[in-house]
Amino acid sequence: MEKTVRAHTNIALIKYWGKANQSLRLPLMSSLSMTLDQFYTDTKVSAGPKNQFWLNGVEQSGQSYQRVFSFLKLLQEKFGVKGNLKVESVNHVPTAAGLASSSSAFAALAGAFCVHYGINLSAVELSRLARWGSGSASRSIYGGFAIWQKGIDNESSYAYALDEKPQMDLQLLVVELNKNPKELSSTQGMKQAQTSPFFRPWLERNQAELAQMVAAIKANDFSKLGSLAELNACEMHAVNLTAQPGFTYFEPATIKAIKLVADLRRLGIECYFTIDAGPNIKILSQLKNVKDITKRFVSEFHNVNIINASFGPGISCLN
Ligand code: DP6
Repeated sequence: MEKTVRAHTNIALIKYWGKANQSLRLPLMSSLSMTLDQFYTDTKVSAGPKNQFWLNGVEQSGQSYQRVFSFLKLLQEKFGVKGNLKVESVNHVPTAAGLASSSSAFAALAGAFCVHYGINLSAVELSRLARWGSGSASRSIYGGFAIWQKGIDNESSYAYALDEKPQMDLQLLVVELNKNPKELSSTQGMKQAQTSPFFRPWLERNQAELAQMVAAIKANDFSKLGSLAELNACEMHAVNLTAQPGFTYFEPATIKAIKLVADLRRLGIECYFTIDAGPNIKILSQLKNVKDITKRFVSEFHNVNIINASFGPGISCLN
């Protein structure tokens, strides 16, 4: 009986947005994330008559199949193991949430691969493997807050837990503004972003921004954490706009939502936003303000879907 592995998605408060090495997925910057309780992927790997990838009960072909099996081939080569594999994944990341699922998907897949072959790895070793599938997956090995230190080579580039069970009152409201699939993948977007004249200056700020974020977390300072996360997200989207040629993931609704967050803050309802490679906005807030923020967004965006998430756990085996 093969075991199912569960990994949760994470949202970066200090973003990974650039690679130093494409094939090894070595990042140009260190990043820091919050693992989310509401969104996760369950994956089982077993021996099969041929390689197969089933996602939410549907057999996959094309790009998603290719990405999964080129990753598994790398892992098989690394550990000197063989055999056709059947991968069965269920994504509990509603497309409505506008969240990327590659972080939970590749963390769960790396874990399920190891379970299938009886390979015992430390969390750090598993984080390195997950990184080969998708950079952000390196952080989904851990619960709470995780840091992916960029490192200089395969060995030194992995994530570790900063605090797996934070006591902080931190809520993340995922606002579904747009359900359409993104036009430019993160892999492509972060490549293009490097042509911005502001990319290098942003990179130079990475260590300082990370240190400030860690200090805010340690001091349990929500205001500092929120404003740093918002600044970092704006920097990422500024380098996109100023790339050559420039591009943006923003839609008109994204701008409206950004202004609404500023408006709420002026009214004394403290909240901040972060945005990834898509038009949807995620709002950082505290429990006491969730109701008011939700009410305001629902009225401005006509019954928009909002999911309230908080800290999720690290990777685990289900059975
Ligand atoms: C904006 O991890 O999806 O969410 O390594 O190419 O698979 P690949 O990229 P991916 O990029 C995530 C980008 C981001 C920021 C972040 O999660 O740090």
